[in-house]
Amino acid sequence: MIVTTKKLFEAAYGKYAIGAYNINNLEQAMGLFQGNLDSQAPFILQISKGARSYTNKLMLEALIRGADEVFPEAIFAVHLDHGDEETAMDCINSGFYSSVMIDASHAPFDENIAITKRVVDAAHAKGIVVEAELGQLGGVEEDISVDEADAKLTNPVEAKEFVERSGCDSLACAIGTSHGAFKFTGTQGLHFDVLANIQKNLPGFPLVMHGSSSVPQEEVARINDAGGKMLGAKGVDADQFKRAAELGVTKINIDTDGRLVWTRVHREFFRDKPENFDLRPPGKIFMAAYAEFIAAKNVKLGSAGQLENVRKLVG
Ligand code: G3H
Ligand code: 13P
Ligand code: ZN
Repeated sequence: MIVTTKKLFEAAYGKYAIGAYNINNLEQAMGLFQGNLDSQAPFILQISKGARSYTNKLMLEALIRGADEVFPEAIFAVHLDHGDEETAMDCINSGFYSSVMIDASHAPFDENIAITKRVVDAAHAKGIVVEAELGQLGGVEEDISVDEADAKLTNPVEAKEFVERSGCDSLACAIGTSHGAFKFTGTQGLHFDVLANIQKNLPGFPLVMHGSSSVPQEEVARINDAGGKMLGAKGVDADQFKRAAELGVTKINIDTDGRLVWTRVHREFFRDKPENFDLRPPGKIFMAAYAEFIAAKNVKLGSAGQLENVRKLVG
């Protein structure tokens, strides 16, 4: 069942975070739905602009409609990840997405508000909810590269004004994370002080944490042992998710960790079976491994076991 993130956030606020997972293909879709049902968790399925153009946006929509039929007990939101204004409008008009992100965080404050407000007005007219972003993460997101040294944390005072003037439904905050597998070069970590001040200024308002993959060292080691070259990869400690949730983070974005599962499975498979050239055997292993990964991540997020509570809320 496709729902808006609004309902999911009402259920989760202050207690746990909902996992927001990016998908691009059939195998990810199968593993994602299976893992969330295995752990009895509601979830957010995210589609990036790059995922929409990987094959064709309609192919992804068809996949998700299919998964909704194959897994009728699943409760999830369909969300555009890091949309620009044009893509956000396209998703709003598609009638398929229940939630969109407008990411104008690269624009000056007033322009970010103006762009976000245009998307909010169009989305709300159709019952669709909007995530916006203020502040800049390090690393690479979509086409925009922001040097980690110049990463700009969200200003808690500006956050309140931004939400009031733009009318957005949730806010992605920069609190020290970055996208990708190389998040921290030294001793940097999450700025819970900044998060606490944002929550103080916006009590009860759903916050979003991007760049939250854990980049498990065991996974990186297995990839490297099977011919990969990911030296110095480092992520966010998943044991910090619950503290973030208590401080108002209701959505935690995870993409890179899923890519690592894919890379590990395929590298090890073809290393160990060099004579094999069938795509289905490693695909099967990946779907099972991805489901297992999602279920374990939901335990860290606290969303595991919440499916029936959420079902009562969404009716
Ligand atoms: O934040 C970006 C997400 O990880 C999506 O990545 O744009 O390569 O699909 P992508
Ligand atoms: P990761 O690169 O840490 O998985 O972050 C994903 C993300 O923020 C998607 O919007
Ligand atoms: Zn992101």
